[in-house]
Amino acid sequence: MKRVAVYDLPVRLFHWLFAFFILAAFIIAKTTDDDSQIFIYHMMAGLTVGFLLVLRIIWGFAGTRYSRFSSLRLSPAGLMVYLKDAVFMKAKRYLGHNPASSYAAVIMFLCAAGLIVTGILMTGGRGGDFIEDAHELLSTMLIIAVIVHLGGVALHQMKHRDAIWLTMFNGKKEQTGDNQGIRSTRPFAGILFFLLTFLWIGILITRFNRNSQTVDLFGYELNLGDDEQTSRSTYEKDRDDEDDDHD
Ligand code: HEM
Ligand code: HEM
Repeated sequence: MKRVAVYDLPVRLFHWLFAFFILAAFIIAKTTDDDSQIFIYHMMAGLTVGFLLVLRIIWGFAGTRYSRFSSLRLSPAGLMVYLKDAVFMKAKRYLGHNPASSYAAVIMFLCAAGLIVTGILMTGGRGGDFIEDAHELLSTMLIIAVIVHLGGVALHQMKHRDAIWLTMFNGKKEQTGDNQGIRSTRPFAGILFFLLTFLWIGILITRFNRNSQTVDLFGYELNLGDDEQTSRSTYEKDRDDEDDDHD
């Protein structure tokens, strides 16, 4: 059967970078103490997941057909039919996301967004038990969603024998019905996507101050240490310094 291009380059780059930084954040958090220096990389990996998510949201409106959020199949009735059919190994094939993978993608995006918000609220020793528990719960939900996602990929592979796992590398799927593939895989947008992510990681690393344990994000100092010093804008800091001068 004919294989046609489905996922453009920005979505494929997003997929592997998103997977890599989520796993990195998770593994670091589960294997290191939160007051060790290595834990800083947990937060940097998490902040990079956040940056990737912002780019993916923009691409969800500006990307090619199957990258757009409008192509996700989010009808609950459609999901029920798909899951019932999947149990009997007769689920229909889709060129873009099927109903189950559409839900999995949205759940992963929402868990990741929740982790970024609760994570930032915990920086500098702030947060409290509720935020900490929410962060941990979201991370567990995200990892369960990833395991279910991998199960879905394996199941599809077994049923259709069409090397679906290759899709997120070469962007291609076997054509189904009248659905057309995409005309361009948007290589320039892909390169820009990669460069912006590279730049973001560079900013996190070069603007991190080891002494104060803060990273300067365009005027906002985020405290990645574990002391009680809170994150605050440099404007507030300058004002404090001025006050000190007047004293
Ligand atoms: C931590 C690991 C992973 C995470 C967080 C993850 C996350 C995601 C997300 C969010 C999507 C939706 C893509 C989008 O529209 O932006 C997706 C799709 C996909 N992923 Fe993964 N993924 C992971 C690992 C893998 C692995 C190891 C494979 C291959 C063996 C894989 C194969 C796929 C495929 C084939 C799709 C497209 C599914 C479809 O056409 O509906 N993923 N993944
Ligand atoms: C994909 C993103 C993320 C994942 C998967 C993740 C996962 C985790 C996990 C598994 C823990 C350990 C929970 C436990 O077992 O006690 C943790 C703790 C923590 N995370 Fe994240 N996290 C993410 C993003 C972030 C971000 C963006 C920040 C901050 C900028 C952050 C800050 C923290 C902090 C400060 C703790 C320590 C909480 C404590 O004192 O117990 N995380 N995270």
